[in-house]
Amino acid sequence: MVMQFQPSLNVLNMQYQKNNTQLASEGINQDWFTYATEHSDIVPEILIELEKETYQKVLQPRMICDRLQGRFLSLISNLVKANTIVEIGTYTGYSTLSLAEGFTDNGKIHTIDCNEELVNIQERFFKKSKYSHKIKRHLGKAIDVLTKIEGPYDLVFIDADKENYIVYFENVFPKMRKGGLIISDNVMWSGKVLSEANPKDSKTIAIKRFNKKLMMDHRIQTTLLPLRDGLTLSRIL
Ligand SMILES: C[S@@+](CC[C@H](N)C(=O)[O-])C[C@H]1O[C@@H](n2cnc3c(N)ncnc32)[C@H](O)[C@@H]1O
Repeated sequence: MVMQFQPSLNVLNMQYQKNNTQLASEGINQDWFTYATEHSDIVPEILIELEKETYQKVLQPRMICDRLQGRFLSLISNLVKANTIVEIGTYTGYSTLSLAEGFTDNGKIHTIDCNEELVNIQERFFKKSKYSHKIKRHLGKAIDVLTKIEGPYDLVFIDADKENYIVYFENVFPKMRKGGLIISDNVMWSGKVLSEANPKDSKTIAIKRFNKKLMMDHRIQTTLLPLRDGLTLSRIL
């Protein structure tokens, strides 16, 4: 049987290389990561294109979901068979399109971001995808927008400002269906959660608080996975 591999991660531009090196220096074994990516599902062409354009044209491309995490989000979304997905932190839409792969026929995703400059790239790629009619883009502060999105939610992806993770979690919780899933990204925060936080580092303090809260919350079943920058899965009991 001929194995079909995607183009190597090296095809991306210099900035991508630099970011991978940065991840490696933060403790993530680059060879393991590449091997895992190359032995997971083939990444849809539209996501390869979006990744490339993000690295070439958008500020802070390191914020984009990577290929392995994207395949993982797609798998989870397929398992949950979500009707309503809420994403907090769209950026260029990579995780939106990955999560959309798991929809039911009537499914929809609400995705929220406050950065107006990202609207152009989000709209172009959502339109180009086969999910355009199922994606509802919201521009604004997540905390304001969330009040307008009716429940029940089946799947929530939290991936925005770290200081508000607990606020977002508590805000969406009452609208979650039993058995639904909240996924929270960047919970290892480049490994900074492993040591005592600098009192001025509000992001690390917030993430550490959030992780502790989830671990102690009896309303959920939680597992923190050291996937990329850390991803926590919390199932609503
Ligand atoms: C890490 S990026 C999201 C990455 C995206 N989920 C992906 O995987 O490709 C975080 C995004 O959250 C947005 N953001 C930060 N604070 C926000 C807020 N208070 N309300 C809405 N969006 C916010 C930023 O503009 C940024 O695009």
